[in-house]
Amino acid sequence: MPALIVGNWKMNGLGEDIAEIAAMAGSGARGVWIAPPFTLIDRAVIVSAGAVKIGGQDCHANAKGAHTGCVSAAMLADLGAGFVIVGHSERRRDNGETDADVRAKAQAGQAAGLEVILCIGETRAQRDAGQTNAVLTSQLSGSLPDDAEALIIAYEPVWAIGTGLIPTLDDVAAAHAHIRQHLTAHFGPAGHGVRILYGGSVTPANAGELLGVADVGGVLVGGASLTAASLLAIAATAP
Ligand code: PGA
Repeated sequence: MPALIVGNWKMNGLGEDIAEIAAMAGSGARGVWIAPPFTLIDRAVIVSAGAVKIGGQDCHANAKGAHTGCVSAAMLADLGAGFVIVGHSERRRDNGETDADVRAKAQAGQAAGLEVILCIGETRAQRDAGQTNAVLTSQLSGSLPDDAEALIIAYEPVWAIGTGLIPTLDDVAAAHAHIRQHLTAHFGPAGHGVRILYGGSVTPANAGELLGVADVGGVLVGGASLTAASLLAIAATAP
């Protein structure tokens, strides 16, 4: 499986920044996906012309209804989005999302025909207390959807996001192995087909070594995904 390079633009990007997505699409790079803010999805789908898969950073668990300010997975799919990120640690922290909420959103995303990137990861305090595997197990147990089809897991240590810090490559390998073990125990053989991404302070300088770690099927990139130059430099490191 060629590596997947997924950019999460978070709350960044105005109309003028669509040029970056157009440049990514025009580069011929494969396996590049971008989750711009909701406001840019429509335009991003148009300029990417299928060369870059466009997705949402979140969705509501319901398909429609009285939920002011929210966007459903069906609405994302209707815009031409192909995937949705659920359970990002910033949403867990800022919006109080629980594993049960994340599971409901993952189910909604799959039901709408989207690929779902489900984020998990430990805090610094949890890692220091030796709880990393227990936290990953607990998050997976509480948030995995019923179906392993169209499911991608992103391992994102919370303390590595936006900090410039990354785990050792051995720690990344250990976390991915632990996640894989859980996926195969949970889903059976289908668990082998679930891609696992690493996320947290990925840059052009460290992407190559991270993508070389066993069972790292790609990267989820925040800050370094905002320009085509930076994201394409990361994509160029893929084996
Ligand atoms: P970062 O963010 O690359 O800016 O650390 C990653 C993420 O939150 O997905």
